[in-house]
Formats: sequence, structure tokens, C-alpha cells
Amino acid sequence: MEYLIMHKNIPVAEIEIDDISGVITAVNDVIHMEHIPVGVIHSLRHKQIIDRASLNHWWRGRSIPASRMGISEALNTLGIYETSELLTKCFGLSLSDHYWIKPIKSNLTWENVNFFDNDFSDDIGDVLFGINKKISGFDFVSPDNTSDGSLKKRWKIINGKRCLIKSGSAPFRQQPFNEVIASKIMDRLGINHVSYNIIRNGNEHYSICENFVTKDTELVSAYRILQIRPKENHENEYMHYVNICKESGVKNIVSSIDAMIVIDYIIANEDRHFNNFGLLRNADTLEWIGTAPIFDSGTSLWYDTQEKFIPYADIKCKPFKKTHGEQLRLVSDFSVFDFSKLDGIENEIIEIITDGNSESFIDDSRAKIIAENVQHRIDNLKKITLTVK
Ligand SMILES: Nc1ncnc2c1ncn2[C@@H]1O[C@H](COP(=O)(O)OP(=O)(O)OP(=O)(O)O)[C@@H](O)[C@H]1O
Ligand SMILES: [Mg+2]
Repeated sequence: MEYLIMHKNIPVAEIEIDDISGVITAVNDVIHMEHIPVGVIHSLRHKQIIDRASLNHWWRGRSIPASRMGISEALNTLGIYETSELLTKCFGLSLSDHYWIKPIKSNLTWENVNFFDNDFSDDIGDVLFGINKKISGFDFVSPDNTSDGSLKKRWKIINGKRCLIKSGSAPFRQQPFNEVIASKIMDRLGINHVSYNIIRNGNEHYSICENFVTKDTELVSAYRILQIRPKENHENEYMHYVNICKESGVKNIVSSIDAMIVIDYIIANEDRHFNNFGLLRNADTLEWIGTAPIFDSGTSLWYDTQEKFIPYADIKCKPFKKTHGEQLRLVSDFSVFDFSKLDGIENEIIEIITDGNSESFIDDSRAKIIAENVQHRIDNLKKITLTVK
């Protein structure tokens, strides 16, 4: 079927999609090249030429990843084979950016369809959470069809606000608490971040945060930004990213990456991959606004490590270096962080994890060990700050 790739109300390209597989089989015309998704490879000289493989990579990247917890059961319930089949069922709309596909002969407008203003169905979220009452006749109009990430998650409209609800994973189901702890640490250090809270349903705890993307500003992941141009021989991955941001006119990129590296060190984050941070841009003018607030800090705080191994755990590090020690060396200026603002954080961490939480999968002694090890990392940072002064 023929579609237009749309950026809000701007037609970007005329394409054909195989409705069974969801694959883009042809790019027939390019209408507004400047609005093609960031990082999709295109010819600068021949306006019409978009690399179809690269466009498909972007398009497939909008679907729920195969690694999502519980996805095979959900697909079974929905009676479909692949998550990519869900994309056309909601026009590829998302709550993290402003792209969508419009059937070529339709009169739909962005105002009619976008999820920022228009309500959406709970059916897909219910299926993804395994709490669906329906077994057929699902309403597929939902931003849950295009959500990324491996944890179970869904969007909900609560008091008119679009909120993302995320689970944890076995054995400790700790990630929702980690999101809240990371939020509190960033509050104290004055680091721009998404604020997370805990909600509870029976025995299960979830994190909840508001959408930080608006009708006007959209998230572009670091992964997509890195596709803007190849890495040059003299650049490491850090310089590649920083240089592209500077070339694009993004302000304060070094200080905001400094902040991300520091918080990731404190919480021993193991999963700051290139889709877990990025930039915001104005979707109308295409101007870069700056770094997106820090989100998704839950895969941290020894989330899957047994207590006795926590002090010796081999913590993975992403995105620029293999160890947090090496990554810390990329920080340009420690003097802007006042680590004394974290005094007393140990108790706050224990309270967050244990507060009203007798049925949690994390006991008091685990909470204490986590808090002690965070404190140890903060002490290290204080020492480093003194030596670089
Ligand atoms: N508050 C938010 N507002 C808008 N978009 C968001 C928000 N939080 C997350 N997203 C988008 O949803 C995606 C998935 O969310 P998130 O990274 O929190 O999930 P996850 O399952 O923890 O991911 P991972 O697989 O990296 O562990 C993000 O990559 C981002 O594109
Ligand atoms: Mg993520």
C-alpha cells in the first residue's frame, strides 16, 4: 500500500509498504528532504535518493524490540507474528517523536491522529501487561505499538497527562526503585532529568514518569545522531558524538555529557546505550534545543546481582568506555558538581527501597548494601574532585 511518511503535517516521502510484513518496499518520491528522520542515509546531490535499507532500519526501529519481556505471549494473544506488523495499525505514531505514515489517499491530518492530543486505546497496553479482558476485537490505536526498550511498559493517560509505566525484571524487580533513586540524586545535584515515581499494583511495583516530549519538541536518540556522518579516524566514539552535536550547533553538550557520566558512575549504570540518551529538537523549525533530560537509569544499582557479590561486581559500562573508571576520565569539569549535596543519601536510598514495601522482592539488608556501595562511589568522586582541583 502507498503511504506518505509525514512529519506532523509535512509530507516527507512517498513510500510503499508491504502490509503483511511491514517492510518499506519502495521510496517513490522525496518531498521534503530536510524532514527525513535524522541519520537516514540520503544523497545530498540527488534530492530524490533515500537509501531504502537505512529508511527500513529507522522504520523497523520504531517497533517493539523482540527482546521485550513477554512479547511472544502478547503477539500470540493479538494473533500476529512480528511486532513490525503493529506499526501500520497505529500509523507508526509514537509519543516520543512526530513521525507517522498517512495512507496516500486519506485526508487525515496530524491534528486528527497524534497521541499528544487524541486519546488512545488501552487494549495493547493491557495485552502487553497480560491483563487483557478481551481475547479478540482489539483496538490497535495505541502508542504502545511503537514503544522501545526491553522492560514491560505501557503509556497511560492520567489526569490528561501522557505517562509511561515501566516494570522491573526478575529476580529483584529493582528497576522502578532505581529510577526513583536516580531521580533523587539528580535532583540534589541539579542535573536535568525525567522525574520518576513508584506506583503499585498488588505485589508489583512500577515506575511512572510523564512524557518529556511535547507536541513541539521531539526526542532524537544519540544512536540516530551518530548516523549523521561516519566516525573519522582520529575520533573515538565520545568525540564522534560531541563533534556532531557541536557541528549541529547544540549548546552545552560537553557539560551535559559530563553530568550523564557522573550520575551513571554514582548509580553504577550498566545500560546507558545510545538509545538511552539523546537530544531534543523543535519538530517544526528542526532547530536543536539541547540535550534531552536524563531518562532510563533503572538498569543500575546492582539490579540483578546477589548481595554478597555487590562489592566485587564487574559492572558493565556504556556508551563510551568499557569501565566507569575510564569513562570518568572523559569528564571535563568536576568542579560544577557539589557532592556534599548528597550527604545523607544513604538513608534516602534505604527509605525509597523499603518504604511501605513489605512485599517487595528486596529486603532491608539488600537495600543497606546498595546504599553503602553508592556512598562509596560518591566518596570516590569527592576524592577525584579534590585531586583535580
Ligand atoms: N518520559 C518519556 N517521554 C518520552 N519518551 C520516553 C520517555 N521515557 C522513555 N521514552 C522513550 O521510550 C523508550 C523506552 O523507554 P526506556 O528506555 O525507559 O525503556 P527500557 O525498557 O528501560 O529500555 P532499555 O531496553 O534501554 O532498558 C526510550 O528509549 C525513549 O525513546
Ligand atoms: Mg531504554
